[in-house]
Amino acid sequence: MILQSQADLDGMKAASKAVAEALSRTIAYAQVGMNTLDLDFFAKGCLEEYGAKSAPKVMYKFPGYTCISVGHEIAHGIPSEKRILKEGDLINVDISAELNGYFADNGCSFVLGEDLHGHSKLVEASRDILRLAIAKIKPGVKIAEFGRFIETEAKKRGFKVITNLAGHGIGRKLHESPDEILNCFNRFNFQRFKVDSTVAIETFISTHSTVAETQEDGWTLLGNRGGFTAQHEHTLIIREDGIEILTLGNGVW
Ligand code: CO
Ligand code: CO
Repeated sequence: MILQSQADLDGMKAASKAVAEALSRTIAYAQVGMNTLDLDFFAKGCLEEYGAKSAPKVMYKFPGYTCISVGHEIAHGIPSEKRILKEGDLINVDISAELNGYFADNGCSFVLGEDLHGHSKLVEASRDILRLAIAKIKPGVKIAEFGRFIETEAKKRGFKVITNLAGHGIGRKLHESPDEILNCFNRFNFQRFKVDSTVAIETFISTHSTVAETQEDGWTLLGNRGGFTAQHEHTLIIREDGIEILTLGNGVW
């Protein structure tokens, strides 16, 4: 969305505050032995405190209020009573919501408790790359070049990127134009970042896979070559004089 008014700005800020605080509180709430449905209900409660509604549920009838992906799952993990969190698990919580007609989106991968399986390097790479990539965004920057930057940074650290998942425009809907802010170079994409636009920027940094594949449940995404993936995401405004990160309250930086 291109911000047109103070109401647009206030609306995006309020929706972003709701998802950011829901995310940071949900991550803090996660404990060994808890299941992902417990975590999802906790996040739902946080959103409700702000009067916000789960975006994946409202827009796509997703079977959960948030996406919680554990272990090898890349994204769109369905909250479940059967999924018990264990020490050292790689967990991704992605929370997006609608508040008063405005949408915001943010996500975070983290290691639960002690890093028994050595996932921290991947998690730190994803978070660092998100920070570096956001610093590259300015009005007029080619989205394809932005993707190339993420891929190059991932390779420098010995990782790959998922090439078929992307950040996106956001505002009056969860997914708006530009709809493919990829983590790699796409020579057919001539779009540029626009001044005063709101976008959700997200990383998909992986150890082995390059393609996310939908599983039989119709939602869960796994990698084509296994391994693990980390994702971090912020909703932000691209200003003439710099970036304003609206979901900074989630503590992902
Ligand atoms: Co998201
Ligand atoms: Co998103």
